Amino acid sequence: MLKIIDDTHPSLREKSVAVSLPINEENRALLLEMLEHLAMSQDEVLSEKYHLRSGVGLAAPQVGVNKRLIAIYYPKDEEKKQYVKYGLVNPRIVANSVRECYLSNGEGCLSVPLDHPGHVYRSFKITVEAFDIVTNKDIVIVARGYDAVVLQHEIDHLDGILYYDRIDARKGQLDDPKALAI
Ligand code: NI
Repeated sequence: MLKIIDDTHPSLREKSVAVSLPINEENRALLLEMLEHLAMSQDEVLSEKYHLRSGVGLAAPQVGVNKRLIAIYYPKDEEKKQYVKYGLVNPRIVANSVRECYLSNGEGCLSVPLDHPGHVYRSFKITVEAFDIVTNKDIVIVARGYDAVVLQHEIDHLDGILYYDRIDARKGQLDDPKALAI
């Protein structure tokens, strides 16, 4: 079982290092365990049994490992049993829209126990390049809206940035009427 550290831990404020490819077994096993943790956290029975907070994304620094690895897992279409599932190595945002969006209910983070109300403005559309262990390929992800928010939140962890830093950075500014509420 992975132990998630909270935002008092210095690992969450460090810049993580790139992982060499081809990915070694240790790093692959960690990413698989991170994906498993997310799946368990969304399971009613298992999350209660192991006292897990439900999460859709996890970055390696959140388990105390400062490597550029992120796991993302959430249902896209529950009826069709389709999931957004990535185990990304060295994800890079190579393009982002000027247009912004924010989650109207605010963001949350498994490493942030306290609620930090406020809009977290992020690019509405991004393009990410990475190696993905789910498909075992170099991939290019074009993500919009919620999908783009989750990716940006996790990639921020690799640079020691927490979502409330972005709220604080715009404190005192008027809400952006052009940003799309999701
Ligand atoms: Ni987080």
